Amino acid sequence: MLVMGIESSAHTFGVGIVRNGRILANEKSMYRIGTTGMIPAKVAQFHSENASEVMGRALSAAKIGFEDLDGIGYTMGPGMGHCLQVGALSAKTVARMLRIPIAPVNHAVGHIEIVRHLSGMKDPLALYVSGGNSQILKRSDGHFPHYRVLGETFDIGVGNMLDTFARKMKLDPAWGSSVEKKAMGGRYMKMPYTVKGMDFSFTGLLTHSMKQIGHAKDSDICFSLQETAFSMLCEATERALLLTNSKELEVCGGVAQNSRLREMLASIAKEHGARFGSVEKQYDADNGAMIAVVAERMLKKGMDESIGNCGISQRYRADSARLAGA
Ligand code: FE2
Repeated sequence: MLVMGIESSAHTFGVGIVRNGRILANEKSMYRIGTTGMIPAKVAQFHSENASEVMGRALSAAKIGFEDLDGIGYTMGPGMGHCLQVGALSAKTVARMLRIPIAPVNHAVGHIEIVRHLSGMKDPLALYVSGGNSQILKRSDGHFPHYRVLGETFDIGVGNMLDTFARKMKLDPAWGSSVEKKAMGGRYMKMPYTVKGMDFSFTGLLTHSMKQIGHAKDSDICFSLQETAFSMLCEATERALLLTNSKELEVCGGVAQNSRLREMLASIAKEHGARFGSVEKQYDADNGAMIAVVAERMLKKGMDESIGNCGISQRYRADSARLAGA
């Protein structure tokens, strides 16, 4: 089966193409966040202007034409409404013109499944860390197979925290990756630390860190912010790993690109005899391939949706998405 996946939940318009689980293309175009953060209407306009070009690039990379597609998937949510609409409209137009089945995909499930797929894991505990989300999840089978959320942020996602801090410190680009670079050689300063069982909170840490700007070395603040946030995530993840007796641990989502977080999680996994899985960074960032991988599985299981029912859902939680299976 040859399936295209379209991702447009936030700053990235991504198009991936898979054939029987093999990724043939993963192309994208990314909105530059600047100093103002993301204004949904502006990001959506960017996506509208770039959608056809990115789809064309993906088809060229896969060496196929639109007419070769057997199915299409798109990100239904969660994400920013204006942005999700562009991806949904693009996918519905292709599905209607080619008369091919369409599958609405949960964005978080896409992030988890692409790492599971590429790392060859069977049933991992997943730490999903991105701008909008920070959750610990594990597959739950039964009459409604889904990813059960074992723990999550009480307020903002860890990626949102790092990006907001990067903008406040006027780092360029204003992403978490700039905080990671600036943290090199920094020394630890005490910061607020909030973990409740397997849940955590980042707003207190963000406020405190922002207040330190100008009063301490930039590298020390960045280092301490990262160490504290990642330690919180690691404490909760370790608790979940032991509770579920998992022998596989994966990290996914945009913040999974951070080398320090990967290093800390790998060390926890090793300590408990679990295998640690992470993938090439292009598959941690928002991407179309993850949507294509999940869409192909859904379509093979007959989980397509009529075009009229293909909407978007800004608050589509991972635990309300039915899984198609391996
Ligand atoms: Fe994402």
